[in-house]
Amino acid sequence: MANEALLKVAGLRAGYGPTPILQGIDLEIGRGEIVSLIGRNGVGKTTTLRCLMGQLAASAGSIVLRGRDITRLQPDARARAGIGFVPQGREVFPKLTVEENLSVGRLVGGREGRKLDEDVYRYFPRLRERTKQLAGTMSGGEQQQLAIGRALIGNPSLLLLDEPSEGIQPSIVQMICDTLKSIRDELGTTIVFVEQNLDTILSLSERAYVIEKGRVLRELDRHQVSDPEAVRAALAI
Ligand SMILES: Nc1ncnc2c1ncn2[C@@H]1O[C@H](COP(=O)(O)OP(=O)(O)O)[C@@H](O)[C@H]1O
Ligand SMILES: [Mg+2]
Repeated sequence: MANEALLKVAGLRAGYGPTPILQGIDLEIGRGEIVSLIGRNGVGKTTTLRCLMGQLAASAGSIVLRGRDITRLQPDARARAGIGFVPQGREVFPKLTVEENLSVGRLVGGREGRKLDEDVYRYFPRLRERTKQLAGTMSGGEQQQLAIGRALIGNPSLLLLDEPSEGIQPSIVQMICDTLKSIRDELGTTIVFVEQNLDTILSLSERAYVIEKGRVLRELDRHQVSDPEAVRAALAI
């Protein structure tokens, strides 16, 4: 990683009640990188993202974003510090329209200054066609675009996505991957995503961390993460 670190995570530990899950996670993500967290079911990938977003408190370790220690900040303060979160299962507000969902993201999220309303509609034209539609009546792929739009609208420096491909047809997944790359290229947004789908990992990752039992077992570099056999082997660990 040649450029300056945007996110540094050191010795991160967390769990649910007395059960330890994360056992000392270390990550270093550069500005503008697209990095995946991969590994089998139940190893702590979602828990890691929830800890980065502040939905779950760390019991030890540190999270530093753009040189600022955010380990003890609440989720709303982390959103203002520049983290956008697209949770597993999307969690759009089903009874709100597309534009209402986006305005929630606009209120809670992101850096001060320019909001990205127009950019969200440019990246996801489907949402512009559907501004008045209730989110709960949209397809999985449309809801995923809305969840990304809601996280993006506040102009985050770091976008976290938990299994963006889950339950979505392959052609839409490919479109979403291409759009995320454009967002990084054009806005400079750093992207960290959790994924189990081989094609999505291969298509989007520039680097990967392999998680096993709440620890980083190893890293895959740009070359390894584009090699299906290497990624398959990492997923089967
Ligand atoms: N809310 C919760 N309460 C108790 N245990 C949980 C909770 N969420 C997840 N876990 C447990 O934490 C472990 C890691 O889960 P998770 O981070 O969701 O894994 P992954 O996203 O890698 O599949 C699993 O053993 C899971 O059962
Ligand atoms: Mg998960």
